Amino acid sequence: MSALHADARWDAWHQALLKCNACTLCQSATRKVPGQGSQTAPLMLIGEGPGAAEDREGLAFVGPAGQLLTRMLMAINLPRERVYICNIVKCRPPGNRTPSQEEANACLPFLRAQVAMLRPRVILLLGATAAIHTLGGEVRVTRDRGKWVERKGVLMMLTYHPSALLRDVSKKREAWEDMQALRDKLMTLSLYEDIYSHEAGSI
Ligand code: URA
Repeated sequence: MSALHADARWDAWHQALLKCNACTLCQSATRKVPGQGSQTAPLMLIGEGPGAAEDREGLAFVGPAGQLLTRMLMAINLPRERVYICNIVKCRPPGNRTPSQEEANACLPFLRAQVAMLRPRVILLLGATAAIHTLGGEVRVTRDRGKWVERKGVLMMLTYHPSALLRDVSKKREAWEDMQALRDKLMTLSLYEDIYSHEAGSI
């Protein structure tokens, strides 16, 4: 696909998101938070939903959890603008509550379209909400984290959400193991070369 065609698809997707009122979250949200980064990245990160800072700025993972995520990525030589970062829901759930099944279902077509356009080789799932709505089934982060699963040719791994690490620093050791496993997988698949050879996105 030409870069021009790909840009047009992302633009159309963005316009559709801005108009979306498929659930009630858009009524209380200040801004939609589509996600950002490199639109050619082989690595996608999926979180839960925007918090207060994200809702204000319209950008994913820019609050305290996002700052920790930036440091976690840098620890394995991944500047965040070279990967693609987004969420299950694109509008902030009031009070940062977990999005309901209905809200996630309403928003999932947007995530599916992001995956179809980006065609990532690897997806890092940040926290239970990301895993429940992508892998399905019952998820326990402490039990299921750090394991690779393949879905439709995409390798996916669950790790702790950075907010959980801010609440409980004892989880950081396991989170670091997961980041090392991610680094090793990207190296085995020679994806660092891809990550560095493509144009970086915003932040
Ligand atoms: N938590 C998330 O899951 N996503 C964000 O964008 C910010 C905090």
